[in-house]
Amino acid sequence: MDKQLLVAFAAVLVASVVGIAQSDEIDSEEDYDAAMKVVGTTFRALTSAMDARDGDTVLSGTATLAGLFEQVEGFWEAQNVPTAAAIATEAADAANAIRSALEAQAFQEIAPARDALAATCQTCHNEYREQVDGGTRIKPGVL
Ligand code: HEC
Repeated sequence: MDKQLLVAFAAVLVASVVGIAQSDEIDSEEDYDAAMKVVGTTFRALTSAMDARDGDTVLSGTATLAGLFEQVEGFWEAQNVPTAAAIATEAADAANAIRSALEAQAFQEIAPARDALAATCQTCHNEYREQVDGGTRIKPGVL
């Protein structure tokens, strides 16, 4: 490949990676709500997959959750709520810990990591979520 072509190719690659990163950003309350719905269904599927010892689904579910929580973290950082961002980081770390434990066949570490993940849902919801008719929302005054 000649040099010019290589440079052009690299530019396209960078542009598309940046494009993907941007499209994955959560930058509105609607996006946030949609992301949490996916978190909810993925977490339920993950829990059943663990009970069923379905390793492939556990691996893909934890990867999805880690990616979503990184986006959640980015949202809270952008909103200047570092405490919520830190809980999201813990959630992503716990999802990754489940995956590493499974990959390393350290099965005794899976349940504690799952409990740590579930605890982050509770902690963040207690602090930042409230029930409204037909669903939930971010507590007023937080953003
Ligand atoms: C960093 C904070 C944070 C973490 C961690 C978090 N959530 Fe949420 N979640 C929220 C907030 C705030 C809302 C309310 C926003 C909304 O409903 O639009 C919410 C809403 C939800 C909803 C309701 C969505 C709807 O409208 O029906 C579900 C389901 C949910 N979360 C599941 C989970 C699960 C499961 C976990 C853990 C695996 C989790 N969340 C972790 C902050 C968090």
